[in-house]
Amino acid sequence: MPDTDAKILLTGASQGIGKAIAVALAKDQHAVVGISRSRPNPADFGSSRYFCWQGVDLSNGTEIEKFVASVDSVAFRALILSAVDYGDGARHPASAITAEEWHRIVGTTCVGQSLLTSLFLPKLMANPHGIIVNISSDVAILPSPGRAAYSASKAGLHAMLRAVAAENAVEKLRVYQLIPTFQSLTEGIRRRRPADFDFSSYADPAVIAAVVRQLVSSSASTPPGSYLVHRDGTLHPFSEITRI
Ligand SMILES: NC(=O)c1ccc[n+]([C@@H]2O[C@H](COP(=O)([O-])OP(=O)(O)OC[C@H]3O[C@@H](n4cnc5c(N)ncnc54)[C@H](OP(=O)(O)O)[C@@H]3O)[C@@H](O)[C@H]2O)c1
Repeated sequence: MPDTDAKILLTGASQGIGKAIAVALAKDQHAVVGISRSRPNPADFGSSRYFCWQGVDLSNGTEIEKFVASVDSVAFRALILSAVDYGDGARHPASAITAEEWHRIVGTTCVGQSLLTSLFLPKLMANPHGIIVNISSDVAILPSPGRAAYSASKAGLHAMLRAVAAENAVEKLRVYQLIPTFQSLTEGIRRRRPADFDFSSYADPAVIAAVVRQLVSSSASTPPGSYLVHRDGTLHPFSEITRI
């Protein structure tokens, strides 16, 4: 059970892994403010008073700034980053990525969430310890042909958060980066696969939601850092290079 009135801000709240996280946290009576462009289906939250939604377009810096100003008087103890712009359609080579695609994909997933994080840091640091959980990706650490813009957006956010973690003492700020080793069946993934695709090996987004739920609970003892997340919900520390 939560032991604080401070809220949790979650990006990507309308669908997929983000929505699964919101549902799991609200069920646990953590007060969550979810943001996305479209409103999540209220039926997923029943009559829970622990979830509220705000429309924010993360590709728009002015909207992000206005949103942060609008919650100026609200205490937040955690920031969970799950929003992503996967881009349109099938994989295509870097040579075929348009300027519009670069700006939208990197602008949303990396720049928008980096700006949100920057603006939210003072709020998070006002707590005994603030928490950031980023749903990172294997594409942030491994080559992924045909997905250069998505990879750049995820690697950029991942690197930004490593810098944030290094700037702040772990006693003040815990930064977790989760790298799933499996695919989850989400609306965003479904849209990018052929209609007859076999999703039987894909996991329920609830697997990652359960991990996040544990990390933001008051009894969490997992040290901050980057983790590979396995399908059974176990975490394995991922050793980032820290010097060359
Ligand atoms: N699914 C997987 O197998 C998998 C594997 C590894 C890592 N991940 C990571 O897990 C996270 C969630 O992935 P997912 O598959 O659940 O994605 P998804 O189903 O596509 O959901 C993406 C979320 O991002 C929001 N979003 C997109 N553009 C936005 C914008 N401009 N402004 C505000 N919100 C925006 C969407 O809301 P609106 O469209 O309503 O704005 C939606 O809520 C991502 O960071 C992804 O990289 C997923």
